[in-house]
Amino acid sequence: MEKSQGKRESWGSRIGFIMAAAGSAVGLGNIWRFPYLTGTNGGGAFILIYLVFVLGVGLSIMTAEFAVGRRANLAAAGAFKKFNPRFTFAGVLGVLSAFFIMGFYPVVGGWALAYVFKSVTGLLSNSAAIGDYFGTFITSSIEPLVWMLIYLLANILIVARGVQGGIEKASKVMMPSLYVLFIIIAIRSITLPGAGAGLEFIFKPDFSQVTGSTFLAALGQAFFSLSLGMGCMLTYGSYLSKEENLQKNALIVTLMDTSVALIAAIAIFPALFAFGMEPAVGPGLVFVVVPSIFAQMGGIGVILSVIFFIALTLAALTSSVSLLEVVVAYLIDERKMERKKSVNLAGGIMVITGILSSLSMGALSGVKILGVGFFDFFDILTDKIFLAIGGMLIAIFVGWFMKKEDLKDELTNGGTIKFGLFELWYNVTKYIIPIAIGVVAVAGIMSIEQTALMIFGIALIVVLAIFSKKL
Ligand code: TRP
Repeated sequence: MEKSQGKRESWGSRIGFIMAAAGSAVGLGNIWRFPYLTGTNGGGAFILIYLVFVLGVGLSIMTAEFAVGRRANLAAAGAFKKFNPRFTFAGVLGVLSAFFIMGFYPVVGGWALAYVFKSVTGLLSNSAAIGDYFGTFITSSIEPLVWMLIYLLANILIVARGVQGGIEKASKVMMPSLYVLFIIIAIRSITLPGAGAGLEFIFKPDFSQVTGSTFLAALGQAFFSLSLGMGCMLTYGSYLSKEENLQKNALIVTLMDTSVALIAAIAIFPALFAFGMEPAVGPGLVFVVVPSIFAQMGGIGVILSVIFFIALTLAALTSSVSLLEVVVAYLIDERKMERKKSVNLAGGIMVITGILSSLSMGALSGVKILGVGFFDFFDILTDKIFLAIGGMLIAIFVGWFMKKEDLKDELTNGGTIKFGLFELWYNVTKYIIPIAIGVVAVAGIMSIEQTALMIFGIALIVVLAIFSKKL
């Protein structure tokens, strides 16, 4: 038995855990970010590089996070501290990353929620105006704020109900619904006349467009989409029973996340090409191109649009609750706070950062920290710096600071199940992943235009590392 005060929470069932972990992974990353990155990075070649990183790096890191979390039976910071206090900072960096991602995520979640209602209140009636409509909407002060706050409140209510009663229950309903909704839309998309060009765009790689920054974009996206590099899967693993097969669960969650990203691409690009639109429009892709596609379909388009944005909101919600949970678990485990209090404290801070991010699209667009607005500050710091470095820290920690026998014991449930690829997993995690991330991150971080922001991010990590034992 663990010597903790009170009983630590855990998942109610195996399927509940898988749905929650897949719910964390599948989110705006798959449906909002993956398609627009595919669009701006030239299509099939980006997807191929992304898949290599998912299977070559992501799957191993997820296995590592599950193993460390369940071994420690503690959330990120506590888990690192238990094995080696010099690494406590890696967990604290994760908590900080959770706050930063939650600085912008609920803003986009709020847009998705808003578009559920806008789909039936005239958004689709004038397809030429959809782009302007989006711009006007996100830059206005009050409306997006209200949607963001409703979205954040839903997160707070779910996480306050705990691991089993809240997160697990919500995910068990939301994840399967999402799958079904997306498959319906994908089928509609590939059966449109002219859809072939879109399938070719995503499945026929053209490497002439690939540059160094394509690799960082693909790596950052792999971490973001799989919820890795900041102790999120580690925390979810810490609620997992000793009987579960960690390697198998990591594989299932990775495959589910990847399949949703691919289904989202199959839902979007064939229709996009069928209607003769541009793939490289950037972050507005889902909110501008998708409604435009639906607007050209008549009555059924309205229904599909409602379905699409409900799916997007649900996917986002099961992800952002995992981010909030990382902070809450830290407060519970390390600061000995109660769950309700922790949720209110963390949620309260997220309300403030969310308001700043939302307003940075319009009223506060002139306010810059280190050269960027609030939304970009939170987004770039996490996606381009913290997650990749966090992933590297996990790999180094597991490979060089944990006992190999302990890892083997954890991943084979004390020798009762087989892990045939253990040696491969161990060596890849120990040697290849730190070097691979190092190369991609150094090249990529150097190419970030916001130099001040980059120096700030790195300096923050260094300061945390120096004071690690005091954290
Ligand atoms: N993976 C989620 C998405 O694709 C976002 C997310 C949830 C996340 N938890 C995370 C990203 C932890 C990085 C780390 O939308």
